[in-house]
Amino acid sequence: MSQGPDHPRDVIAELDFHVEAGVDLCLDERPHDRFSEIEEASPWRPTPARRGSPSSDSSLRVEPPSDGPQVDPVLPRRELPPRGQAPVPPPARTYGQSASAKPGEAAGDARARARDVASLEELEALLAAFDGCPLKFTAKNLVFADGNPASKLMFIGEAPGADEDRVGKPFMGRSGQLLDRMMAAIGLDRTKAYVTNIVPWRPPGNRNPTPQEVSICKPFIERQIELADPDVIVCLGSPATQAITGTKDGILKARGRFYPYRVGDREVKALATLHPAYLLRQPLQKRLAWRDFRLLKATLDGKA
Ligand code: URA
Repeated sequence: MSQGPDHPRDVIAELDFHVEAGVDLCLDERPHDRFSEIEEASPWRPTPARRGSPSSDSSLRVEPPSDGPQVDPVLPRRELPPRGQAPVPPPARTYGQSASAKPGEAAGDARARARDVASLEELEALLAAFDGCPLKFTAKNLVFADGNPASKLMFIGEAPGADEDRVGKPFMGRSGQLLDRMMAAIGLDRTKAYVTNIVPWRPPGNRNPTPQEVSICKPFIERQIELADPDVIVCLGSPATQAITGTKDGILKARGRFYPYRVGDREVKALATLHPAYLLRQPLQKRLAWRDFRLLKATLDGKA
C-alpha cells in the first residue's frame, strides 16, 4: 500500500529531523514562511498576490489599510505588526507543564522535590515525572545513571548525546567508549564505578545545556550524589567541574586538582579532569588526562 506524505512515520521522521537540527520549541500550530511575509508586507510590492481561496474564518481575516501594504487576507495567528511597530516577541518559553513558570522557580521546585526522595530509585522516578526542565520535552529518554551505585567512585559528565538519549544510559557513544578505556587503564570498569551527568536529558542538536537548564537540574545531581554517597567524584570537563566544585576556572586550569565536596556531614574529594569528548578532538591532551587518572588511582589505593 502506498504511503502518503502525511503517513505518521514520515511525520515522526520529520519531527525527529527538526529536533536533531536544534528546534526545541513550538511557537505556533502552523509553519510560517517569514520570508514571503516580509515580501508581502513590502510597500514596493506591485500587485497583491492571492493564494488559494479566502478563509471562511472571519477572525483570521484582516482588511489591509487603504494606504498600507497589501497582505494575504488569511494571516497566520501571529499577524505582522502594523508598519512602524516592533514585532510582538514570541511568547515566553514555558518550562514544561510544571507549576514553575520561570527557571528560578523550576530550580526551587526541583530542590524541594529532590529533598523528599530517599533512594536513587525514587530520585529516578521523580525525574521521570518532573516537567520543570524544557530539555525533557525534546529528549527521547531520561538518562539517569549507569554502573554501580554502591561504588565509592562516581564519574559525572555534562549531558547525554544522541547515543545516550537513544539508549537511556550515560556515556554510550564514542566518548563513553573512551571513558571505558580510561577506566580500564587504571583497573576499573562500570561494575566498580557509578556514572552520570549533571543534566539528565539531551540538549537538542548536541548543544551545551544553558546555565538555566543546569541550575534547574542541579538539585537533582546534588541529591543523586548524596544518595550514592561516594568517597571520590570525578568531574569530566568544565561544565561538570564548575557545577560540582563551584570553581569559575576553565578546565585546563582546574584539572588535576581535588576540590572538597560536602556530602551530608562528610567532606569527600572531587577531581577535575578533561572530558573524553574533548580528548577525542585533542588526542595530544590525553597525556594530561592520564596524569589525572594516575592521581585518581593513587588516591583510590590510599597512596596519595
Ligand atoms: N557526554 C557526556 O557528558 N555525557 C554523556 O553521557 C555522553 C557524552
